[in-house]
Amino acid sequence: MNSDPAVPDAPRLDGLLLPRHVAMIMDGNGRWARKRMLNRIRGHEKGADAVRTVVRTSRELGIPYLTLYAFSTENWERPETEIAALMMLLKRFLKSEQQEMLENGIRLNAVGQIDHLPADVRSTLEKVMMITQHNMGMLLNLALSYGGRAEIIRAVRDIVSKVQKNELDPEQITDDLIGDHLYTRGMPDPDLLIRTGGEMRVSNFLLWQIAYTEIFVTSTLWPDFSKEEYIGILRDFQKRERRFGKTGA
Ligand code: FPP
Repeated sequence: MNSDPAVPDAPRLDGLLLPRHVAMIMDGNGRWARKRMLNRIRGHEKGADAVRTVVRTSRELGIPYLTLYAFSTENWERPETEIAALMMLLKRFLKSEQQEMLENGIRLNAVGQIDHLPADVRSTLEKVMMITQHNMGMLLNLALSYGGRAEIIRAVRDIVSKVQKNELDPEQITDDLIGDHLYTRGMPDPDLLIRTGGEMRVSNFLLWQIAYTEIFVTSTLWPDFSKEEYIGILRDFQKRERRFGKTGA
């Protein structure tokens, strides 16, 4: 279901359908740096270049929704210097990419506890979201201070409060209603989740939304993730048979 009329339908590559929504867990920046005897922050810097590559590639291919896990609720536990560097990189990325987003029809959105971000980052983010709000080519969702459980708790609180105010009958609580109370309201669930860095886990990312998502884990560390590898994974996705719990018949 494409409930957002501003965003086009799924594109094709070599005649076969591509995912309409790709989500990515960008892991391995620290290991990339350690292998080169560099500070972890260098890994994040190089990681920001890979972000640029996947955003451009997704847009070129016509993928309508891209969600990137840029900072988790758990990432606040990292050393202050690393958090500050990640926030600085995010702000730099937003400033350097805003022109390209405008030219290429990319709408920026953020999912997560945005009010927890430093004020300067938040205002840059809100400004880019505002100036790109009418773009219809692709929705770039940055998951920032994001946690899947926190997102579900927030939805449950919202729903319970509506029930208490008699605005909602518990019988009306369905999949769709819960989906409408998540940050990803109005977006299709991800068709494909790509995780770099080789770990076989979902790390509190889009817990509700990935119920039937195809998962691809690559051992490539995020800063080394290339356009070629991304396209190879999309081709692998095209070969998969998605049954959504039913039989293939
Ligand atoms: C995981 O690597 C990655 C992150 C915690 C953040 C992702 C950030 C970026 C890709 C760079 C900046 C983002 C934007 C949007 C410009 P890790 O540090 O957990 O790696 P490790 O598992 O090897 O230690």
